[in-house]
Amino acid sequence: MKIAIASDHIGFELKPIISAYVEELGHELIDYGPHSAERTDYPKYAKLVAEALIGGQVDAGILICGTGVGISIAANKVRGIRAVVCSEPYTAQMSKRHNNTNILAFGSRVIGGELAKMIVKCWLEAEFEGGRHVDRVGMIGEIEEQYLC
Ligand code: RB5
Repeated sequence: MKIAIASDHIGFELKPIISAYVEELGHELIDYGPHSAERTDYPKYAKLVAEALIGGQVDAGILICGTGVGISIAANKVRGIRAVVCSEPYTAQMSKRHNNTNILAFGSRVIGGELAKMIVKCWLEAEFEGGRHVDRVGMIGEIEEQYLC
């Protein structure tokens, strides 16, 4: 898969560790920044990755900020994005199987590199189960259509 990654300044140090791991797993990686540890704003990077995904340039996205919260909320404002913030692998896996999440977010102030890698692996390897979950994910899209016009 082609994976987009981005962070803010707080997630900046963890980004290369996760990037190398994603490549090690056999995926192609595109780094949407930032490219220095200078103080910045997470919504910018959430938007870049969300737009790359919606535009079809990548198949999935990974976002890192201090908690994973701000950057996932921002990404979820883009129509068609289903971003999940995780600090353990079970939620990461289930979010793909049941909710067909397309962006994974986590916080560099919350989890360490090894746990982050485990979460990334579980999420990338999981597959949407379809079936009864299709309608529910469709209902999320309907809410989006109603309020994001
Ligand atoms: C930056 O100070 C911090 O607010 C950000 O990294 C993130 O945790 C926001 O949700």
